[in-house]
Formats: sequence, structure tokens, C-alpha cells
Amino acid sequence: MNSPVMQGLNINAPSSVKNPKVLAWVAEMAALTKPASIYWCDGSDEEYDRLCQQLVDAGTFKKLNPAKRPNSFLALSDPSDVARVEDRTYICSAKKEDAGPTNNWMAPAEMRATLTPLFDGCMAGRTMYVVPFSMGPLGSHIAHIGIELTDSAYVATNQKIMTRMGKAVYDVLGVDGEFVPCMHTVGAPLAAGQKDTTSWPCNPKVKYIVHYPESREIWSYGSGYGGNALLGKKCLALRIASTMGRDQGWLAEHMLILGVTNPQGKKYHVAAAFPSACGKTNFSMLVPPEAAFAGWKVTTIGDDIAWIKPHADGKMYAINPEAGYFGVAPGTNMHTNPNCMRSLDKNVIFTNVALTDDGDVWWEGMEKDGGSVPEHLVDWQGKDWTPAIAKETGAKAAHPNSRFTVAATNNPALDPQWDDASGVAIDAFIFGGRRSTTVPLVTEARTWMEGVYMAATMGSETTAAAFGAQGVVRRDPFAMLPFCGYNMSDYFQHWLDMEKKLESTGHTLPKIFCVNWFRKGEDGKFVWPGYGDNMRVLKWMIDRLEGTAKGVATGFGIAPQYAEINWKGLDFSEAQFNSVTSLDKGAWADELKLHTEHFAQLAYHLPKELEETKAQLEQRLAA
Ligand code: OXD
Ligand code: MN
Repeated sequence: MNSPVMQGLNINAPSSVKNPKVLAWVAEMAALTKPASIYWCDGSDEEYDRLCQQLVDAGTFKKLNPAKRPNSFLALSDPSDVARVEDRTYICSAKKEDAGPTNNWMAPAEMRATLTPLFDGCMAGRTMYVVPFSMGPLGSHIAHIGIELTDSAYVATNQKIMTRMGKAVYDVLGVDGEFVPCMHTVGAPLAAGQKDTTSWPCNPKVKYIVHYPESREIWSYGSGYGGNALLGKKCLALRIASTMGRDQGWLAEHMLILGVTNPQGKKYHVAAAFPSACGKTNFSMLVPPEAAFAGWKVTTIGDDIAWIKPHADGKMYAINPEAGYFGVAPGTNMHTNPNCMRSLDKNVIFTNVALTDDGDVWWEGMEKDGGSVPEHLVDWQGKDWTPAIAKETGAKAAHPNSRFTVAATNNPALDPQWDDASGVAIDAFIFGGRRSTTVPLVTEARTWMEGVYMAATMGSETTAAAFGAQGVVRRDPFAMLPFCGYNMSDYFQHWLDMEKKLESTGHTLPKIFCVNWFRKGEDGKFVWPGYGDNMRVLKWMIDRLEGTAKGVATGFGIAPQYAEINWKGLDFSEAQFNSVTSLDKGAWADELKLHTEHFAQLAYHLPKELEETKAQLEQRLAA
């Protein structure tokens, strides 16, 4: 045992931990947070089972019926702790301008002065779990290491699924390797002899999700939920990693990565950015419609985040830094995402879905799988739920942001290269928002610049993945609005610089496409069927990559001609096609005014090329 002693507390580090910075940091944090004990996670299955049992004993987990859902659990959170808290999320760069107008900012010294008293003694009466993890395949040159200190066993078990977690990380780290320190507490210390009165300890009133980009640290206080607490995900893999990417010449993006293989065995890789809860997981596991795409295969590399680095062979290579999926449950069913439903057969942690009387899980949307809505459930708040109650009160059985945590290896459509340390070469980027009007089904950017413009001005109607009003259009550039760890306009510049850098080193730039699956008709219903049928759009993109689809130039990129889409097995008329691809002049005039407002907000360091591209777009759309 390595045993540095700090203020009387022996941290009991295993002898495999040889990195003095890790040892000193754990000792310092233990001295600050004053846990009752420290537990170093080794990442073994035996440990996972033990922690799950501990959570069952504490009432946080309910073990589901093993005959229905083997080795799976349900956790119900505190009703105040159900989503990411963007208004409590901070980028504490030294200079305010470096956080930019889209992030909350506080001076690092001021934030430290705020957090230190909160963290002082915050783990009293609890165990501090030391959770070592690799974001990306262990030892990959694209991967990075984090260590999360948390007083939540729920977080430790989720991290085992979501990351490459365990003692092998210390071997990669060695004596002097770098890691991102991730400090997490639920912010609910226990006085001597005090027991939890809730199965989801958190701090309902005080929450801070804090990033220090210069020193690459994360401090999270008060929440046990999702991206607020599983610090490898949004905090490290996006906010901190985006600043690493800016400094080191790579990209950390809110993108799924998929492989698509044609019947001749030729494979393409696509990375696609969509805001939260816009179907990224569904798209990444898409099942091509058999009638039109016999022999085609779509395989998943990642469902949420991509780290992309240029390589000496002239291509951009992407890895999925995560090892599991923390996906939105409601709406997931055998029609919207059959591969996901199959992934959820066993070894899953569910959070805030409903419980059936026979010990299984249920969420809205499951009734479409040939069954009906159950007559009785226990809802996500632990209350009785019946269709009659729902009708009367509008209560959802599952919270709209309820989630499953499941290992990527459960996915039947997992790409054979998903864990490849070198990553996969990206052929195309896709950007898409949720827009009921204005933005067409698909267009291809004529140039990298135009693609960056499309991504930078992307708008989307808000969803339940974050607190706040839903269904309101907000600009969500690159789907990174809540996740970019630095000034958004500098991030645009980074993307623009990437073109020059890649071209000057002989790289082939991926093509850029913009999509919108969500246009609605006059009846208020979605016109495009979406889900598996998105393969028809993906295939057109591949035809563009191969040079076999001509497309048609529009005011907003190159669009498909009706005849260029494979319609086999789908009744979708040319009139319907026109209704999802048309560019409405009035709507676009309004849209461009919003782009102007958006650029005014981002004026500091806004690349002038974006303004120039806007002027060209205005001319084209007015023509
Ligand atoms: C997520 C999100 O959980 O984007 O992936 O909110
Ligand atoms: Mn996401």
C-alpha cells in the first residue's frame, strides 16, 4: 500500500498507483472533503456487482426481475435532479472573453473561493470513490485519462459502463502521465451518526458544474445526475477536451460516429452532430430498410461524442471517447431503434423510467411495440401511475429525460473498429437540428466554409435533456452550445483554421452536410418518417462522396433531386419531398435576421468569413 497521510487521513492507495500527482491530489481532496473512508475502484466485474448490491441495500437501486431484465437496476432520482443544469455550469477561464458570451463565467479565484467552503467536509459520513478512467481506448494516442473522486456509488457504477474504468489506467498513467482531475460530490454531507433519509442524496438547492480550462480541472457540486455527475462525458470529453483540441490542433465534438458498408464491402465513416435528444443514438444504430438496402450495414462507433485528430496519411481519424451509452429512454422502441432495444436486454442501469408490476421497466413509446399501456405502474417519482391518472394529471410514467446506461458491447450493431486505438477515417460530417420549418431535409455544403456557416448558425427546438422551456428555437452552433469550453467564435475560427492546416498538409477534407429530420406539415405532424428511413438520405450522401449523385444547387447548398433518393418500400410523393426540401423565402428572410442577431451576440472574435458567407447566402436566397 502507498500511504501518504494528510491531516491524519490515510488514503490507502493501492501499490499500483505510482503517480505522485495522483497520490498528492487524492490526499489533498480527502483532507478537504473529509470522507469517512476512501475506496479505490479497480474496475472489476466483482466490484461492480458489489457496488450494485450496496446500492440495492441503500435503496438507490431496485434490482429488476432477473427473468425479464437480467442483472439490471432501476434508480429514481430526486425530482430536483433530473437533467443537466446549464445555468449552474461555468467555464472559469482566466479571462472572461475566453469563456465567451454563451458560457457562464466567474473568475477562477472567485469560483475557488466559492467552492472551497462548499467542498470543505462535503463528503462527511460518506465514502470517497477514486474512479480512474480512460476516455478512448486505453493507450490510444487520441485518448486521455481522467480520475473522478466522487461520494456517489451510483456514479462509480455508471462510470464502469460509460468509460474504460479500472486499475489498468494507472499502468497507462505511469509515474508522470497526465490526467484530468474530476472532483464530484452530491453535496449532502452526513453528520456523525446521521443516516440518509433519501435514496438519492443530492443538494436540491446548490449546484455548481465548474470547469477550469487552463488548469484542466472539473469541480461538480450538488447533483448526482448524468452529465452533471458522470464527469468523463460532457465535462471532460467536450468542455475540457474542446480546449485541449483548440490548443493541440484537433476536434472534440458532440457527434455520433457510424460506419456504413455497402453490399460490395466498401465502408464509409460519418460523424454527425445533433443537439441533445434529437435522435443521435437512434441514427448511430440505424437499421437500413431491407426493401431498399439489402446488403447494406450501419454500425455504431459512438452515439454522442467524437474526438477527431488529423493523421499523417492525410485523413481525419475519430474515436468514441466513451465505452457506453447514456441514452434517453422515452420514445425508444422496436420501430425507432431496434438495436438499442436489443442492447437493453440485460446489464443495464435505468434511471427515472417507470417500474412494472412484474419488476420490469417501462417508458412512453414502448406501447408501440405491439403491447398496450400497462394498467398499473410505479412512476419515476415512485408514485402509482395508471392511464386514468395520466389522463387526469398529465403525469408521465417515465421522466422525459429518463435514461439507460449500457455498455457499447451490448449493441448488436457495434462496429468491429469501435475500440480501435487508431480510430476510423471520417468521410463526412453531418449537422442537424430539430426545426419544424425552414431548414431543408438535407443539403451539402459547397465548401468547407459554407459547411462551417451551416453548423455555426444551426438552430434547434429545445428538449428535456436540459432544464428550461421546451420547444423554443435556440441557436445551437455545432450542437455545442452547452458543451464548448471556450469562446464560441474562437471555436468557429478553430474549425476554419483546420481547413487551411489540413489542405496545406495534403489532407482530404470530409464533406459537410446539413440535415433536418423534423419538418412538420400543416397538420402539425412530421412529414419525413425518420429513423431507419434516414438511410435514404445517408445513401444520397454516399452517392455524393462517390460522385454518382448530381444534386441541384440551391440557395442553401446542394440538395438531392427527387429521383436521386432510393424510395423503394416507402410511399413518399414528390410533393411531400418538396415540402421537406423547399426553401421558403419569407421564412429564410426571418431566419437570416436571427443569424444576424446570433452573430451580433458572438461579435467578439467572430471570423469575418462568416459574415461574408452570410452576405452571399442572403444574395442567393433573395435571387
Ligand atoms: C446527453 C446530452 O446526455 O446531450 O448526451 O444531454
Ligand atoms: Mn449528448
